[in-house]
Amino acid sequence: MKLLYQQMLAFFGVLIVAMAIISVMFIRSTSNTVWQNSFDQLEEYTDVLKDRAVDPNTYLINTEFIEHSEEILKKQNVHFMIYDATNTVRYPQTAEGQATAIAGRYWKQLENGDAVALPELTTNPRNGKQQSMTIYYKPVFLSGKLLFVIAAFAPVDNIQSSLRRTEYNLFIAFLLSLLVAIVLSYVLARYQVNRINRLRQVTHQVAEGNYDVDVKIKSRTHDEVAALADDFQDMVGSLRDSQAEIHRQEERRRQFMADAAHEMRTPLTTINGLLEGLAYDAIPEESKGQSIQLMRNETNRLIRLVNENLDYEKIRTNQILLKKQTFNATEALGEIKVQLKQKAADAKDELVLKASPDVQVYADRDRFVQVMVNIIQNAIQFTQNGTITVTAKTGYHQTELSVADTGIGMTEDQVKNIWERYYKADPSRKNTKYGESGLGLAIVHQLVTLHGGTIDVQSKKDEGTTFTVAFPDEETAPKQAPITHTK
Ligand SMILES: Nc1ncnc2c1ncn2[C@@H]1O[C@H](COP(=O)(O)OP(=O)(O)OP(=O)(O)O)[C@@H](O)[C@H]1O
Ligand SMILES: [Mg+2]
Repeated sequence: MKLLYQQMLAFFGVLIVAMAIISVMFIRSTSNTVWQNSFDQLEEYTDVLKDRAVDPNTYLINTEFIEHSEEILKKQNVHFMIYDATNTVRYPQTAEGQATAIAGRYWKQLENGDAVALPELTTNPRNGKQQSMTIYYKPVFLSGKLLFVIAAFAPVDNIQSSLRRTEYNLFIAFLLSLLVAIVLSYVLARYQVNRINRLRQVTHQVAEGNYDVDVKIKSRTHDEVAALADDFQDMVGSLRDSQAEIHRQEERRRQFMADAAHEMRTPLTTINGLLEGLAYDAIPEESKGQSIQLMRNETNRLIRLVNENLDYEKIRTNQILLKKQTFNATEALGEIKVQLKQKAADAKDELVLKASPDVQVYADRDRFVQVMVNIIQNAIQFTQNGTITVTAKTGYHQTELSVADTGIGMTEDQVKNIWERYYKADPSRKNTKYGESGLGLAIVHQLVTLHGGTIDVQSKKDEGTTFTVAFPDEETAPKQAPITHTK
């Protein structure tokens, strides 16, 4: 069954049952009250007659008084009868046989001193006609002896008609409430069903891949359906985020494959060409050594490319553990200077280290060296006959290092991209001596970020470049998050 009908039925059922119970109770209590009132009234009349209608001494009936009373109560159709102790009608003095005596079972009760009230279809005790009426018999005793019985009676037509009127009114009220119940239950059920339908609609949209939906259900009372809608909205948000993340990952993977393939093609093509030359003896004997050396260089390059890619991915996915410690940065830079001296000399560059001997840095020593070597190597690579100045100083809660060169510099556009993997500002420099993969700075950036530090670059075309790196000290450095393994 449709939810609409279920809801309507529920509302409706409750209303009908409530109405039925109220009606039955109302009719019962009204009719009880009406009957009771009628008997009370008749009893009161007999009370009055008891003292005045019969003279207890002479047993003479005060016919005038009774007739007078009947006259007064004519409107209510109330009549009286008086029976003597032998169950014989003494008033009114009607012809024999017309008026009936009180039935035996009632007479017994009366003799015991109990009044009798009868609401029933009975014989009019006056004229013997069958009629629905209320009769009230009251026995009157004198010194324990039944003296006479007074009967007061009135037809029930008026009582019944007033009851019937009440029932009719109630029936009309019942019909009206039925109508209101239908309308009300429909409106309420429709309201609930509309909200659920809205949710269904949105669910379909989400199932079809449309995450830009608004499920917020306007409701003054924040009920369960509204809460469900809120939860649904949150769920759609998470779905959208994970979908976007999947797309990002997919895009990155695609880019990586494309770039890696592109990078590997050059050395592989070179090696392949040289091998073919060797296979067909196309290379003169004296050049063979050189060719082999070239192939070794290219394979080394390939190995480096693969290693760096692996390294980059590990850093990116937080899979490396930094062994951080505080050590002398000036000393470490001094070692790097010695290591790179020859390369600088080859490029006819002067490598200068400007740092007080006690500058400390808090970092993973190997990674620190990796970062600085990469930056200084780049400086040497892109500077001819110039000066490379390396400085180190202690700043506020950090160690600041800079590498300034007087080399070819970069345009603003080039600077923007240098942290990207495989980016080379000038692709034609691909095969220069020291760097060729465009991975160096991407790795440097990841490493510095992992240390909680910052890296900046200032560059001007044809004037030179300055890289500034800052490592936070032990106090402010972030604690490394536990290693997570992302797929
Ligand atoms: N000191 C610098 N002066 C001018 N350009 C620079 C300098 N440092 C980096 N660049 C530019 O940024 C690009 C990216 O540098 P990165 O170190 O990432 O790659 P790479 O040096 O080409 O290759 P490798 O992976 O071997 O380091 C370089 O190709 C170069 O164009
Ligand atoms: Mg480099």
